[in-house]
Order: sequence, then structure tokens, then C-alpha cells
Amino acid sequence: LSSKLEEAKRTAAYNAVDQNINFEEHRIIGIGSGSTVVYVAERLGQYLKDPARHEQVANFICIPTGFQSRMLIKENGLQLGSIEMFPDIDIAFDGADEVDENMQLIKGGGACLFQEKLVSTSSKKFIVVADYRKKSPKYLGTNWKQGVPIEVVPSAYVRVTKDLETKLHAKKVVVREGTPAKAGPVVTDNNNFIIDADFGEIHDPKLLHTQIKSLVGVVETGLFIDNAEIVYFGNDDGTVSVMN
Ligand code: A5P
Repeated sequence: LSSKLEEAKRTAAYNAVDQNINFEEHRIIGIGSGSTVVYVAERLGQYLKDPARHEQVANFICIPTGFQSRMLIKENGLQLGSIEMFPDIDIAFDGADEVDENMQLIKGGGACLFQEKLVSTSSKKFIVVADYRKKSPKYLGTNWKQGVPIEVVPSAYVRVTKDLETKLHAKKVVVREGTPAKAGPVVTDNNNFIIDADFGEIHDPKLLHTQIKSLVGVVETGLFIDNAEIVYFGNDDGTVSVMN
């Protein structure tokens, strides 16, 4: 990865934290998954080392969206909590694979979409951090060519695959595999499989989400509808654009 890209991710994440964390109002913080949110956790870790902010940040309880996210929270010295204990989240940060002009999202490139959706929809405020490659010119499915990630119960993958092809007319449906790291399907943090279904340009993401979600065996889709409140894009010239 070019350092320009890493810099864009870092700048987006640092700006998102600096401009949105409110020490009076926020205590339960959702931490997403992926390579951009790494810098959100890093920023909170820096706050923890700052004597002026230490006390409040030490009281933060961070709710993870999967294994990687839990490690991020731990490594940055933050307090780890669970969504069972803290179902009402004050503010959540996460990355995205693609963001359209209405702030609808494709997520799940990292196979963490179920817990990401659980956390982001349990949060009063959901902030997205992304680099410039994630901004869609118009429709979802333009930049992100891999298809809509869909988490499915393992025994239902054949049925869901068929339904996606015949009922919803997906152009291409693939059960995500872990090769070369693993022979066979990717198994999520919830012990399910991931199907990537390519629908080309998605003109009505809300409808598509509802249609996929109604198939038997589908746990959740990577279409995040009317969920994001603000998106911070790190640009390749070092600036940040805010969409809200
Ligand atoms: C994980 O399942 C995904 O939804 C990630 O949040 C998304 O892929 C963003 O990851 P990056 O910040 O690494 O692009």
C-alpha cells in the first residue's frame, strides 16, 4: 500500500475522532473493523496518554465488531465491553467498502458485516471513515466490483446461491473462500459463510437489501441503509472531505 493511501486513512480517522468525540456525552464507543478504523483506535489510544483527557477516555467502554476489532481495542489500552452488556452505544466508527452519494454503504469486505451492522444500528451516531477510493461516482457497485457481501447460515449456502441467481438475477454469485490462507469457505466470527453477489450498478440499494434479507438462510447483508450520519473521506492530496 502506498503511504499516500495510509495517510488518507489516518487523516480521515483522526479528523472523525477529533470532530465527533464529546467527553460529556460519549462513554460507550463502537469500534468497527478493517484497515481504516485502526487509526480511530490509535487516536483514542493517543487520547488515553494525554493527561488532560486520560480520565475520561479511561472510562470509555469500547464495543467491538469482531475479532480484529477486539484486538485493536486491547492493543490501544482501551476498555473492552460487549454489546450484550452495553446495547446502547453513544457513537460508533467504522470503515466502508463503498459509499454512494446518499451515504448508503457496501460493507463486509472483511467479512465482519453482521457485527458491524449490530453495532452501527445500536449507536446514536454512526461515523464512517474511508479513503478516496471508496467514494462512488453515483451508484453502489461502481467502484466495489466484488459484489454485495452476504452472511449466510452454512447449511443454506446452496439454497441462497440459487435464490440470488434465479429470483434476484444476480450476475455472479461466489461463496467467499480463504485461499491461499485456507482451503474452503471463509468462516465468519459468527461461524457462518459469506456469499459475494454481484448485481452490477445498484440503483435501489434499499430494495435490494430487503429482497436479499428475505431469503431463507440470509443472516445479514452488507448493504448499510440510512445508517451513516457522517462520512470522512481522506483524499490523496492530504485533505479530508466530509459528507453529511
Ligand atoms: C469489514 O467487514 C468491512 O466492512 C470493513 O469495515 C470495510 O471493508 C472497510 O475496510 P477498510 O477500512 O480496510 O477499507
